[in-house]
Amino acid sequence: MNAVVEQHYTGLHPEWERIELLAYSLGQERQGKALTEALLERLKQLQGEVERLRRHAHSPWRALASEEWEPMAYDLAALVLGPEIEPRIGWLYQQLQAGGQHNYPGVALVRELLALDEAETRDLLSLLEEGSPLRRAHVIRTEGQGWHATLVAGPGMTARLMGWPEPQTAPPGATRVWQAARWEDLILPAEVMAQLHEFLYWIEQRDTVGRQWGGEVGGGPLALFCGPSGTGKTFAAAVIASQLGWPLYRVDLGRLVSKYIGETEKNLNRLFDAAHGQALVLQFDEADSLFGQRAEIKDARDRYANMEVSHLLARIEAHQGPVILTTNLRQNIDPAFMRRFQVVVEFPRPDAAGRALLWSHLLPPRAPRLPDVDPLFLGAALSLTGGSIRNAALHAAFVAAGTGRPIGLPEITLAVWRELAKDGRELNPADLGALAPWLPEEVTWNS
Ligand SMILES: Nc1ncnc2c1ncn2[C@@H]1O[C@H](COP(=O)(O)OP(=O)(O)OP(=O)(O)O)[C@@H](O)[C@H]1O
Ligand SMILES: [Mg+2]
Repeated sequence: MNAVVEQHYTGLHPEWERIELLAYSLGQERQGKALTEALLERLKQLQGEVERLRRHAHSPWRALASEEWEPMAYDLAALVLGPEIEPRIGWLYQQLQAGGQHNYPGVALVRELLALDEAETRDLLSLLEEGSPLRRAHVIRTEGQGWHATLVAGPGMTARLMGWPEPQTAPPGATRVWQAARWEDLILPAEVMAQLHEFLYWIEQRDTVGRQWGGEVGGGPLALFCGPSGTGKTFAAAVIASQLGWPLYRVDLGRLVSKYIGETEKNLNRLFDAAHGQALVLQFDEADSLFGQRAEIKDARDRYANMEVSHLLARIEAHQGPVILTTNLRQNIDPAFMRRFQVVVEFPRPDAAGRALLWSHLLPPRAPRLPDVDPLFLGAALSLTGGSIRNAALHAAFVAAGTGRPIGLPEITLAVWRELAKDGRELNPADLGALAPWLPEEVTWNS
């Protein structure tokens, strides 16, 4: 019996049927008509069903929020998303609201539908405030003020809840980073990991510190990730985005910054207008192209450009939501801008222990491998970044697969050689450190 009951909870139809019946009943009551016993009985049944559905470990609601909400938050989410899923609900809202154009419920209608008393109405209003769990998860937005506000579904929320393909929401100039990344795959010194967690607190605890504790949290939060190429800056941004359950979008500032004065601002405005109110993480690469040391002011155009940079940073700061700027050249960032980041994280090149962990994580786990391919040895053998280790580990795996051999030190050494050669500089076997003896002979001759 239990198994059968559980299956029912995978669908959300009790939510929509309940909303539809609540709206229908309100229409009847307003016309002075009594509600039938059968209808009241069905409503009670549905109430029980939605309560169980919301608490269920695999509830579809978990797609919108990893944590459980208070009951009224679910009610609001269902009231707002309902008409997007069950059009009849929207038609009922139209009949129930003066003016009759709104497919979404106003505050006054919500209060009537849920039969809220005064204290409950205060709860309702606080759930609509910025920073509430529903607002933070971007499930709802409000249009208008106070009693006249209409509750509107956040962009893409219906698709996410229902498992429909996400609408194309990429802000102009941004590309989606589709990287599934987990904390346990991120290999960084404890201090750096701590800073990344602190940045996450800035995002997740906005409600507590801002709304409940009265902190002046403003926009953002804004982080600067600095470090050489391949040290895991984008990877860390992907870990943070996965933890939040939000998509990560990458913006190449080098491309966005136009040489025409004023164009850059227009591009940024378009981007932020599109990103407004959406649950997403924005990553701007090559921050130094925008926030580099202020050039010596030679002419009026330079002066204008410097003013513009401050202005652009203000625009970025005003965005409500996490923004991560990355740079390979920290020393090129104007110190005057540093204090405007809530968090500044330095990504170091990995040490031997870190490299050993990277090798062991990045060599494909089920690849056939000879016993002398020892991550500890590889980590100590030579200094590479995580990005280079990833490329070399994969290259070695492809060579092994292509030649029908297990991954051995010759495959690894060849792959590392290819990786080092990408820089375009003259190489000799000494550059391979302790791996030099395994460089296949034909490679040395050819290059
Ligand atoms: N610290 C790390 N922990 C785990 N994996 C890493 C780390 N650094 C790099 N990697 C691996 O290398 C790949 C490339 O790293 P990533 O793209 O994050 O570098 P980046 O710092 O953003 O470089 P760039 O400045 O060139 O954009 C990652 O996808 C990951 O597989
Ligand atoms: Mg990157």
